[in-house]
Amino acid sequence: MAKVHLRKVTRENFRECLNLQVTELQKDWVAANTQSLAEAYVDPNLFPLGVYDAAACGYEQPEVPMIGFTMYELAAGVGFIMRLMIDEKYQGKGYGRATMLEVVRRLKLHPDVEIIATSYRKGNEIAARLYQSLGFRQWNIPYAISHPTEVYVKLEDL
Ligand SMILES: CC(C)(COP(=O)(O)OP(=O)(O)OC[C@H]1O[C@@H](n2cnc3c(N)ncnc32)[C@H](O)[C@@H]1OP(=O)(O)O)[C@@H](O)C(=O)NCCC(=O)NCCS
Repeated sequence: MAKVHLRKVTRENFRECLNLQVTELQKDWVAANTQSLAEAYVDPNLFPLGVYDAAACGYEQPEVPMIGFTMYELAAGVGFIMRLMIDEKYQGKGYGRATMLEVVRRLKLHPDVEIIATSYRKGNEIAARLYQSLGFRQWNIPYAISHPTEVYVKLEDL
């Protein structure tokens, strides 16, 4: 089973992060990493992380490439997984699922987190199935129920 290592995006690795690509068809599903890093620069509640294969763990300079990006927000008792992308070259190998598991593990350790949630664009069936299989279910928070483009889900058994 694929395992990942998550690491802060820093001066050393941010260019790698900016070079990560999803497929042309997937560009509507997730914001560009440039946008995510800009948002994180101005918002201290956002935590952007580079995704590596677990082989990178323990190395000051990882000897394997960054393969994806994720970012969560900590606010109002909610750990909200705002972004998840795996570079097109590394998709379909279990890294997306492994990244979600690792982010959820981290959020569960955080004392302020009472709800773990995420969202995806309507029509993003791969994300919908992935989150469903990890135990995320519809989140009936008022602003989310009838959102025109986004489906909000939260982890059921927290
Ligand atoms: C969603 C995404 C992160 C999944 O990453 P990944 O590394 O390819 O995912 P995994 O290999 O862990 O696969 C997860 C599940 O999706 C399925 N899947 C992955 N790519 C698929 C594809 N192209 N077609 C159909 N199913 C696919 C896998 O079969 C797997 O299901 P399973 O665990 O039941 O076998 C990746 O497709 C991506 O970056 N997409 C663009 C951005 C995006 O949509 N992000 C989510 C926004 S909220």
